[in-house]
Amino acid sequence: MNRIKRTVSLLLCALLLCGSVGFGASALEADDAWQRYWQTYSADGVGMYMAPGADETERNISWYADADTQSCRVAVSESADMSNARTFSGTSVRTPEGDLRCKTTVHSLWPGKTYYYKCATDKWESETYSFSTLSDNNFTAMYVTDIHVSLEDDDADSLMNQSYTFSRVLEDAAGRGELDLVISAGDQASRGYRSEYTALVASPVLRSTPFALCPGNHDRKGIAYRTFTDNPNEDSRAIVHSLIARDYYYVKGDALFFVFDSNVGSMTDHRNFVRRALRANPDVKWRVAVFHHDLYGGRIERRESENKLLRAIWAPIFDEFRFDLVLLGHSHYYTISNAVFKNRTNQSLAGLDSVTDPAGTVVMVSGSINRPRSVEDGEEPPVGENVAYAYLSQAPIYNLLDFTEDSVTVRSYELGAEEAFHTFTIAKTSAQGGHPANGRSFYDPFVRFVADVYGFFNEVVTTARFRLHWNDFVGK
Ligand SMILES: [Fe+2]
Ligand SMILES: [Fe+2]
Repeated sequence: MNRIKRTVSLLLCALLLCGSVGFGASALEADDAWQRYWQTYSADGVGMYMAPGADETERNISWYADADTQSCRVAVSESADMSNARTFSGTSVRTPEGDLRCKTTVHSLWPGKTYYYKCATDKWESETYSFSTLSDNNFTAMYVTDIHVSLEDDDADSLMNQSYTFSRVLEDAAGRGELDLVISAGDQASRGYRSEYTALVASPVLRSTPFALCPGNHDRKGIAYRTFTDNPNEDSRAIVHSLIARDYYYVKGDALFFVFDSNVGSMTDHRNFVRRALRANPDVKWRVAVFHHDLYGGRIERRESENKLLRAIWAPIFDEFRFDLVLLGHSHYYTISNAVFKNRTNQSLAGLDSVTDPAGTVVMVSGSINRPRSVEDGEEPPVGENVAYAYLSQAPIYNLLDFTEDSVTVRSYELGAEEAFHTFTIAKTSAQGGHPANGRSFYDPFVRFVADVYGFFNEVVTTARFRLHWNDFVGK
């Protein structure tokens, strides 16, 4: 009963909360080459990027097009000269600014191939780009979070410098070997403006590597995220969802990636979405969740009530469905948890650089790209009791996740550093690994119900606020 009372009071507290903390700024000054590139790129304004498709046989490619565009298409060839190209017709959606966002799924791709592609409308054609498909289940995913490309004081140079910083991070990662996927755990933008998302995908690395975005709290300060993104397997059956996003999933190698909109508290919807995805993909070995809000990592005192709420509603999902790895953001502070079960450390991973069949879920939070967490009074912020390793940096941080049939190795780097500052391997000897199977609790349905009610009213309030202030963010 105490647990129920505690959960209700946390949910009520959360209705009043809106935490923020001190963050620095680490954007680099764009060099001459990027300044020249940026002039052309920003004038073009198409903001093209490639998202993952439903699985490795697909890619989702999207870009902005003029309001009177009649058709969108992508031509794909196995030759650089685009001979014998297949053409895939796309659809388009109207943006809040009144022009279009073309969205095209390229499908029926073969494993182990390099493909060349061109996007086009009846009025425009892109350059030729290329991408490769996996030949087996081994792949490397880059995981970043809180990229925070920000239009500051309507100054376009802020976009140029921050897109340059992210581009440098992408190139640093790509320089270490094949990059098969880029995962972002939210707060890609700071105000949710269209110009921020266009700058986000400026790097040429993102023409050849699928980029899986996730809605953070900053992404829903605006409305551009919804039309900008083009995600596979979106949850069309959720009763409560935000204006800008839906949960979605995709399969890469032997891993099933769930991307949740953690701005939305409706846990029945999130849980039903996981059940449907697992029913469609029962044999995939690795279960990875990506969402924005931190659970166990860098403590921010005024956010702690919110974090308790988030732990109460999200941990039952990881326990019930035996998630291996959860990738988060929001606190701008790098942490890796112990193996967690029922919100407690079930197996300590402190001091270890590998674990086989961990007895719970490992939860990871990376640092920010453009807004490192400030150090106040020279003291690092405290971390939660479930944290096995923490690292505070003023440099942009990125992580390379090497997936194989039996293991995931995380290598974490600061931009420009030669060596990883942390590496960690999770190995599994079976699909279940060491995760306890009895993950459901008597109280879970009640916690979900209260979260659903909170989620519903929170979305009503947020949607009303969007409608009232629509003109504040359209066109920026
Ligand atoms: Fe953030
Ligand atoms: Fe955030």
